[in-house]
Amino acid sequence: MMSNSEQKRVQSVILPPDKVMHKLVSLAKRRGFIFPSSEIYEGLSSCFDYGPLGSELKKNIKELWWNSMTRRHQNIVGIDASIMMNPRVWEASGHVSSFNDPMIDDKTTKRRYRADHLIENHIEKLRRDGKEADTLRVQGTYEAAGGAKDSNRALYELIVAEGIKAQDTGSGDWTEVRQFNLMFQCNMGAVADTASIVYLRPETAQGIFVNFHNVRESSRMKVPFGIAQIGKAFRNEIVKGNFIFRMVEFEQMEMQYFVKPGTQGEAFEAWREERFNWYTNSLGITREKLHWYKHDKLAHYADLAYDIKFEFPFGIEEIEGIHSRTDFDLKQHQEFSGKNMEYIDQLTNERYLPYVVETSAGCDRLFLALLADAYTEDTVDGEERVVLRLSPKVAPVKAAVLPLMKKGGMGEAALKLRDELATDFLVQYDDAGSIGKRYRRQDEIGTPFCITVDHQSLEENTVTVRYRDTAVQERIDISRVREFLGAKLV
Ligand code: GAP
Repeated sequence: MMSNSEQKRVQSVILPPDKVMHKLVSLAKRRGFIFPSSEIYEGLSSCFDYGPLGSELKKNIKELWWNSMTRRHQNIVGIDASIMMNPRVWEASGHVSSFNDPMIDDKTTKRRYRADHLIENHIEKLRRDGKEADTLRVQGTYEAAGGAKDSNRALYELIVAEGIKAQDTGSGDWTEVRQFNLMFQCNMGAVADTASIVYLRPETAQGIFVNFHNVRESSRMKVPFGIAQIGKAFRNEIVKGNFIFRMVEFEQMEMQYFVKPGTQGEAFEAWREERFNWYTNSLGITREKLHWYKHDKLAHYADLAYDIKFEFPFGIEEIEGIHSRTDFDLKQHQEFSGKNMEYIDQLTNERYLPYVVETSAGCDRLFLALLADAYTEDTVDGEERVVLRLSPKVAPVKAAVLPLMKKGGMGEAALKLRDELATDFLVQYDDAGSIGKRYRRQDEIGTPFCITVDHQSLEENTVTVRYRDTAVQERIDISRVREFLGAKLV
């Protein structure tokens, strides 16, 4: 809780949401969180590289997720499956036949668009313009088109009838709508023919399903139990922008929880609660910016699905899906592989295919949500600053050690302290520029604590600790710094 005098020192600045994304992208590049991929060759659409600070922040997110899943739960273990799998996996899962997006091309500009996105943007515009009757009419036709026997044709007809144009070019010289499979294909081995096609996995989940018995047997797991995994997934999506929100290569943090049929409802509710609380309690995301969304239209494998959505500066969008996947996947793999995927309860001798509750979070989206939630501009004692109010647990740099001056022994003492702390924490040493400038550099990357070594430090073995959010300082004994940081990071 800030006292009145502290509140007076720090005055927040209200930022319009449309400005925040622009500022975030610029900060992310300037300070080494995220770079465009292969930038010196003009980049590659929707691919990004995590820089020195970005890779630390991402590692912290993954570690917090991994620990909250595997360490906290005695009945959840982790795996790290390969990205490429036998292509039959993707036939069994339904991805080869139905992991498609409806695409439409503009014959004049040669650009490709998602037909459903064109229509949804059009409906949104009608709604914004206050054309209520038109909104309802187009919405109704769109919903009917989705269920139509030839939905491609129905989507095409709606786009043409409404005169929908591409937002970026204003052109509307449309081809027919076609279904486009989102999986990336590559050829394995020396000969590139259809028999050698393998896919880059579009989700990590299938690596867990096919290892159900391997994990169960090797780890002596009894239902209910879970398998967790963090890994790359690839989807050949048409991307609308919004920085790292939607990428073709991204990382998922998924957990499949295997339960006895009939108990999935209870497990689903428990996971729903736990996952929502993780965002606020472990990551410090603002609760008011998180929302539940219940799916009315369910994927072919699910009997219940909710999304956790976050209020990004560009709209409220999904960061995690919680799905009750029934026994669909194990049943499909049983059928396609010819291997029995049943579980035998040792106590009752009952045999069944377990049902699955899945929690599936996107690491990169969460990264963006954390940055957007943390980005703040304020003034400290009248001086403007940018500050990332990241929770100390996710902040890439935990503390900066700053000598008030490099000379007079302060530089050496600060370096010594940095080296001592570096065995446990990511700590930066900085002696360049005024102390105020150095504080600002650390505020901007979310470093929660600045530890200053001054004249008094050399005489009394004390340092000052400055808190990022309040700019308040306190003096503590040098010997207590490690303990202080440790306590702030649990
Ligand atoms: N196994 C279930 C599954 O993959 P999903 O809803 O398609 O479900 C789960 O994906 C999460 O993965 C999403 O909530 C999102 O955070 C992330 N995700 C999906 N596609 C993405 C993309 N193209 N770029 C970044 N993250 C993505």
